[in-house]
Amino acid sequence: MSEKRAVGQMLVSADRERFVEIDAHKVARGSFYTTDEAWLIAPVRAFINQALLSCASVLDPFAGDGHLLDLVRREFGAAVFGLDIAGAKWARNDSLVSIPNAGGAMIVTNPPYLANHSASRKGVSQIVATYFDGSDYDNLYKIALDKCLAVSDFVVAVIPETFLLSSFDKSRLQVVSVIEGDLFSDTEAPAVVACFGPAGGANDASVFVGEKPIGKLSEILELRRGRSRSGIRIVFNDPNGRIGLRAVDAQDVNRRIEFIFGDFEYKRSKVKESSRLMTYLDIPELSDEQLQQVISRANHLLAELREKSCDLVLAPFKGNDKLGNRRRRLDYALARQLLNEAS
Ligand SMILES: C[S@@+](CC[C@H](N)C(=O)[O-])C[C@H]1O[C@@H](n2cnc3c(N)ncnc32)[C@H](O)[C@@H]1O
Repeated sequence: MSEKRAVGQMLVSADRERFVEIDAHKVARGSFYTTDEAWLIAPVRAFINQALLSCASVLDPFAGDGHLLDLVRREFGAAVFGLDIAGAKWARNDSLVSIPNAGGAMIVTNPPYLANHSASRKGVSQIVATYFDGSDYDNLYKIALDKCLAVSDFVVAVIPETFLLSSFDKSRLQVVSVIEGDLFSDTEAPAVVACFGPAGGANDASVFVGEKPIGKLSEILELRRGRSRSGIRIVFNDPNGRIGLRAVDAQDVNRRIEFIFGDFEYKRSKVKESSRLMTYLDIPELSDEQLQQVISRANHLLAELREKSCDLVLAPFKGNDKLGNRRRRLDYALARQLLNEAS
């Protein structure tokens, strides 16, 4: 179906073959500008000041309207220059292919974001296919970051928060801060500002939420990795399962991620093999009474994990709840680990 679709037709329902018109070039180029200044928090400022001791200028290879460069020029008095594949403001360059940086400028950028799978859903594959061909990366921002890191010792990039849980090499990452609030003028993508230094420097990043220090990246990821992966048999996506799982925070703050004994707002008839946000599951070896204890312990472990990691071990989910907190999603691998530990 997708081959026959015109560029710019975004698939919204495969079952009903529904499409909506989108601005294909805006999506393919990731032209969502960073109009807010929330990314320039104190630890990032300190990083840029330090980097400017070694770099004479600042380059944004995906410069767009130049919002980031304007701010850097204003705040640091640095010489700045941009490149872009579109528009007339900067020298033209395809920075997803290579970035000229003979002068060793520091890079400050907000590259385009586009997942390979959503490129086809959004009907823009034809525009971006050449970048993904032969690349191991699944998102344009990772290709962009790789190109930036190849030509500069110091890179500050505003990128999706999912970067933190991704397998992208983080050995040069020195500082990363989760940006709260809406950073972009016209998208809700949850973002972080990531600061990379030269290879061989400190290789455990300091993590912040806004200005608040949370700990070292390795400690936060260990909260997830350090849990037992095997144990009791758990059957997911079982319409008759005795445990309900709301695996995503609702906008209503009373409906956060939770294991529930018995029925909850999700209809059992909707459970599918592919259910990822709400489901029913079972631990067949346990009695009802034992299950209730496991559920209570698993919810307790989850609350502890959320608090210790400031939610960063959970993937961000679109938008915020009604109190303005970023919504989160519990993947089933981690749900399984929590239930194992609670059993
Ligand atoms: C997310 S916008 C960021 C603009 C600017 N950094 C900001 O935050 O305001 C991404 C920019 O990258 C440009 N772009 C997309 N693909 C590109 C490519 N292959 N080479 C160079 N620029 C590209 C787009 O035209 C767009 O201006």
